[in-house]
Amino acid sequence: MAHPELSFLDALIVQVDHGLRTLSRIYEAEGRPSPAADAQDTLVEPVERVRAGRMMRVNHAGEVMAQALYYGQASATRDPELREHLEKAAREEADHLVWCQARLDELHATPSRLNPLWYTAGWTMGALAALRGQGPNMGLVVEVEKQVEAHLDEHLQDLPADDMKSRAILEQMQADEIAHGEQAQIRGATPLPLPVRLAMGALSKLMTRGSLWV
Ligand SMILES: [Fe+2]
Ligand SMILES: [Fe+2]
Repeated sequence: MAHPELSFLDALIVQVDHGLRTLSRIYEAEGRPSPAADAQDTLVEPVERVRAGRMMRVNHAGEVMAQALYYGQASATRDPELREHLEKAAREEADHLVWCQARLDELHATPSRLNPLWYTAGWTMGALAALRGQGPNMGLVVEVEKQVEAHLDEHLQDLPADDMKSRAILEQMQADEIAHGEQAQIRGATPLPLPVRLAMGALSKLMTRGSLWV
């Protein structure tokens, strides 16, 4: 575990603390205002509010996983500057969590009960990539953000047309994910092997389908 100033046990406690806070909805975010703040809640049809709530639960679960991924990477990264960058990215993902959580509350929807599973999977994936060095570590970010960006594109098309609040959140998230991917390219991302990319795609499908209902 990488914080050189911390013992292994201290670093482990820090990581468990991050995870428990996220799963308890105590988000360690950058604190940017929600892009939905100025949008009107024009979604009135009850069936459509339920449908939008389910979609935002999927997006919230994706952000749980993204945040875990960055903390997993940060925990196993030896370069202090890169670790700081990854922790900042984790806090930006936590902004996304805050925005999605607020929208879930407005839609009377709940987060996925499978979030502990997604957090564990994301953290493990991040730590393993970081242990393989900066190229694969940044390659993981590029691949994840590419998959998230494509997923957000689908959701932006499928959301109820008059759900302007969810739409505003997803549009800002998509812009942030593109920036995260570009930053990782600049930092020397190397492409991940095809089987890894396929496994990540399968995990992402499992997460998006599972979180839709549970
Ligand atoms: Fe995100
Ligand atoms: Fe991101």
